[in-house]
Amino acid sequence: MDIRELVENILTKAESALQGVHDSQELENLRVRFMGKSGDFTALLRAMGSVSPEERPRVGQMINTARAAIQSRFIETARQLSLIEREHALALETLDVTEPRHTRTLGGVHPITRVLNEITECFTGMGFEVVEGPEAELDLYNFELLNLPRNHPARDAQDTFYIDDNIVLRTHTSPVQARTMLQRKPPIRIICPGRVYRADEADASHSPVFHQMEGLVVDEDVSMADLRGTLDAFARALYGDGVVTRFRPSFFPFTEPSAEVDLTCVTCRGKGCRVCKGTGWIEVLGCGMVNPKVLSLCGIDPSVYSGFAFGIGLDRLCMQRFGIHDVRQLFEGDMRLLSQFR
Ligand code: DAH
Repeated sequence: MDIRELVENILTKAESALQGVHDSQELENLRVRFMGKSGDFTALLRAMGSVSPEERPRVGQMINTARAAIQSRFIETARQLSLIEREHALALETLDVTEPRHTRTLGGVHPITRVLNEITECFTGMGFEVVEGPEAELDLYNFELLNLPRNHPARDAQDTFYIDDNIVLRTHTSPVQARTMLQRKPPIRIICPGRVYRADEADASHSPVFHQMEGLVVDEDVSMADLRGTLDAFARALYGDGVVTRFRPSFFPFTEPSAEVDLTCVTCRGKGCRVCKGTGWIEVLGCGMVNPKVLSLCGIDPSVYSGFAFGIGLDRLCMQRFGIHDVRQLFEGDMRLLSQFR
């Protein structure tokens, strides 16, 4: 076979191989096969040795022309392949911009937390410090140190969930008073917000879990007047001037004397409405002077120190504030209610 024929042969083979190429890897394999060191063209150039010197320039030129032709076919094929491959990649990465997106809506502060935060701010502004205690509480702190010994009839009003004989779900935030007095020396000025529990059947005004904010001040010469002044300041800070407190005598084993405190009904400003059941007052807290017996039980000398304490019921305040008529709604996590507090 003469060289011209060999060249034609290679050109035809290369062309048909190029036609069948699918991707750049295959193309590279072909390039090596035809143009590489041990490829067909290199073999051809080696065969030049057997060509007579007169023929060499002509044959050489022929081979070079053929080589250049193939080279440009390779370049062209490479360009086509890269276009196709790019198109393919783009098709794979297609984004449907009309597809509905997964939205994450910003949540809001629960109405109870709002009221709790506001009241906290009011008392911290008066120099109170926030102290928290456990919800699963020792009977010792929840009852005994607060002058509610075992079998004391006042325990009946605070029936709760027992974890064992000594641990209960706390029935009020008052045990944090005992914990704090045992740990610190006066002056003590604290508030203790949190969840509390009672074995109550749930209805529109009862829930087995609810919220309180305890307050405790112990120092020298603390009087009932300080208690009144503090609670009046609280009422005004929260609801504005014109809202006043009303003290009614009451009983709590841990305070002596004790009082229940009402605030002017904020809905009707004292005129009487559905919210306050026509009385013009809303009952919001229990309070009193810390029983000297409790001070002693908690390691504080009642002949030197006196104190006052209060326990605010947060749920009722919250319901009144936001016009919520059923306490259960505060605990159900119903988005129809909660989304109004974004
Ligand atoms: N712990 C009482 C309750 O849950 C409320 C209370 C009354 C707290 C008088 C006090 C207080 O600190 O002095 O019913």
